[in-house]
Parts: sequence; structure tokens; C-alpha cells
Amino acid sequence: MKRQTRRLEREIREIRRRGESSRISDVQVSHGAPRIVNRDQIPDRVLRVLGEELEDAAMRAVRAGAVGDLTYQGAGATGIVFCDERGIAYKVARPGREASIAEEAEWLERAQHVPGAREHVARHARYDTQHRVLVRECVIGPSGTLRQTSRLFGVHGQIRAAMKPYGWLAPEFKEDSYVLARGRGPVLVDASSALRVGGELVRYAQDVLSGRRMPEERLEDIAFAIRQERDDSIPAAVADLLLAKFRARGVDT
Ligand SMILES: Nc1ncnc2c1ncn2[C@@H]1O[C@H](COP(=O)(O)OP(=O)(O)O)[C@@H](O)[C@H]1O
Ligand SMILES: [Mg+2]
Repeated sequence: MKRQTRRLEREIREIRRRGESSRISDVQVSHGAPRIVNRDQIPDRVLRVLGEELEDAAMRAVRAGAVGDLTYQGAGATGIVFCDERGIAYKVARPGREASIAEEAEWLERAQHVPGAREHVARHARYDTQHRVLVRECVIGPSGTLRQTSRLFGVHGQIRAAMKPYGWLAPEFKEDSYVLARGRGPVLVDASSALRVGGELVRYAQDVLSGRRMPEERLEDIAFAIRQERDDSIPAAVADLLLAKFRARGVDT
């Protein structure tokens, strides 16, 4: 009887030990560094510049919801982009560029509802504030190059015109901001540095002046944008009022 009890206790300890170790390995799997399948194709120059940022970015992509192995898509001044196994792209903000990526998400979310723009823009954008990651569809295809400049510039003009009534212009134009998706044509994936106009610009300026929002750009640049839009997308009286507030802040308008 006693021997049976001891054996039972031993067996229970054994089961517990195994249970614990399998739990530990589960934890290691879900929090371990994700695999970047095309790591050997990332240029050395990029690896040198990014250093430890690359691993950190891959981890944040997983925390923002990436499933399975990651494929590195590219990196720029604002973000490092991976696609996951479900075809979702994660643009992880580089240090100090969080506000820029949040703003890019704002533009993409708006563009999704604008006929004439939404056809040419990466879909389903949302911003994961906690991990500072812009999540949207992964667009498969080669990046735009100088050989497509005139075609891409045409699409860009279309996006710009379609967005203007909604308070935004197109982002800065660059060929490699587009992916040439088969059967769909050029799709804009990099929407950073879009300018606001009209009501969006007025609201943004008011938010910045009241301290509700930290601007991405210098106050001088916001005042300049308002002056540009005076009597165009912003009524002159509204523009003058805002410019006076900027002058009161010591901004040369
Ligand atoms: N949603 C996406 N699907 C596929 N590739 C993408 C996507 N977003 C970005 N990329 C690729 O990653 C590169 C870097 O991303 P990008 O948004 O341009 O970053 P940055 O704003 O820092 O320039 C792009 O040039 C593009 O090749
Ligand atoms: Mg870019």
C-alpha cells in the first residue's frame, strides 16, 4: 500500500514536471524571436543600418498580431515592413516616427472610403497604438521604379484630386511607394507625409495650437500650409484668424 502511494506520488510529480516544461516551451514559442524567412536577402547595408531594430520590429509585428513566419518587405525612414503568413503587412514605426505612422494610418483609413482613391491604396489599415504598428493588407508584386514614373505619377494625381474634398492631398510622390499588383495595377503602400487641406487642416491647426496634439512638422510649416490654402480650401477669414494665433506664438507667417 505504502509502496503504491509512493509510486503514485512519483507519477504525479513526473506529470507535473512534464506539464511545466511543456508550458515553458509554449511560452518560448509564442514569445521567441519570429523567423524572417528571407533574412538572407536583406542587403548588408540595410542590416547594418537597422542593427537590433530589425529583431525588435519583428517582435512588435508579432505582438500586433502577425501569424507564423515573417517576410521582410522593406524599410524606409519611418518604418520597417513585414508580411505574415495570412497576407497582412505590419509597418513597425522606427524610433521617433510613431506620430508619422499614426498619421499615415489616418490618411489610409480615410482613403479607403474615397472613390477614385481607394482602388489604388492598400486596404484595411488600422493603427496598433500599443505596439506602434500600422497594420494593413500585404500587396504582392514588384515595387515601382523609375521606368514607371509617368504611369505612377498619373495614378498619384488621381488620388490627390479624389482626396482633396476630404481634407487631404496625396502623400509625397515616390515610385517605390507603389507596388505593382498583378491584375490590379499600382497600389500605394507608403502614405507618409500627406498634407492636410480645408477642414482637416483647420482642425489640425486648432489641435496643435491648443496643445491637444503634438505636430509632426514645425509650426512654421503648418502656418505656411494655411497661407497656401487661404481663400482656396480655407475661407480667408478663418485662415487669417489662425495665422494671427500662430503669430502670437512667435511664428513668422
Ligand atoms: N502593405 C505593403 N505590402 C507590401 N509591401 C509593402 C507594404 N508596405 C510597404 N511595403 C514595402 O516596404 C517598403 C518600405 O515601406 P514604406 O511604407 O515605404 O516605409 P517608409 O515610410 O519608411 O518609406 C516599401 O517601399 C514597399 O516596398
Ligand atoms: Mg517609402
